Amino acid sequence: MDLKLLAAQLRKPEGETGKMVVEMMNKGNLLLNQWAIEALELKKNDKVLELGMANGFFTSSILSVHPGITYTGVDFSELMVQAACELNQSFIIDGKATYLTGDAARLPFEEDDFNKFLTVNTVYFWESPEKELAEIRRILQPEGLAVFGIRSKKAMDQMPFTQFGFRKYDLQELQNLLTANGFHIHKAEIKQEPPYQFEDQTIIMEDIIVSCNVNHCCPGKII
Ligand SMILES: C[S@@+](CC[C@H](N)C(=O)[O-])C[C@H]1O[C@@H](n2cnc3c(N)ncnc32)[C@H](O)[C@@H]1O
Repeated sequence: MDLKLLAAQLRKPEGETGKMVVEMMNKGNLLLNQWAIEALELKKNDKVLELGMANGFFTSSILSVHPGITYTGVDFSELMVQAACELNQSFIIDGKATYLTGDAARLPFEEDDFNKFLTVNTVYFWESPEKELAEIRRILQPEGLAVFGIRSKKAMDQMPFTQFGFRKYDLQELQNLLTANGFHIHKAEIKQEPPYQFEDQTIIMEDIIVSCNVNHCCPGKII
């Protein structure tokens, strides 16, 4: 696939190509998503918001941790919201999962609506991350936990499509971004995946998982 097209589809899956790309993401992003979900430290009655859940493939991994957990997924791709609703129909019927179309910069929720927040492989696409991060702080309860999962800059540099529209971070840069925008780092780690095959090339995936609390001392969050 053309590299620019692939990059655009990863940012926002659309049409028939989007359906193919999401299958590829579900396989390729499995470990990072599992690790990010572990970092959420899920407990009974947690109210989880996931931003950029694509087709909601990992919703079941969150809901299976405890029967009291509720899940909301938001994504700006209508195709993905529709796919997530189809894949997770039984959770929707049981009142455990909800999927909405929405943009990270204007989340369609009230202040303090969630106590857990998760986003995996989306931070690269934020042009003004301070806007998205302010939104996440707004919807997160004061004692809440937010988890950000991304591929490291070193890992992304191995994949040529990432030169089109991806903002890359190493661990320190991601931590700096989060602390500058009112988050307090709870845990930050780099994990290495087993070697991965991408278009005749063996890639060593390095994953960054950072969990944070809202920093109460930082201006912007009215409590
Ligand atoms: C690269 S995919 C990652 C999907 C999944 N989280 C994973 O790790 O496999 C990025 C997803 O986030 C969504 N997305 C990207 N930027 C977004 C934004 N600003 N607001 C809402 N959704 C966004 C895209 O539509 C897409 O479904």
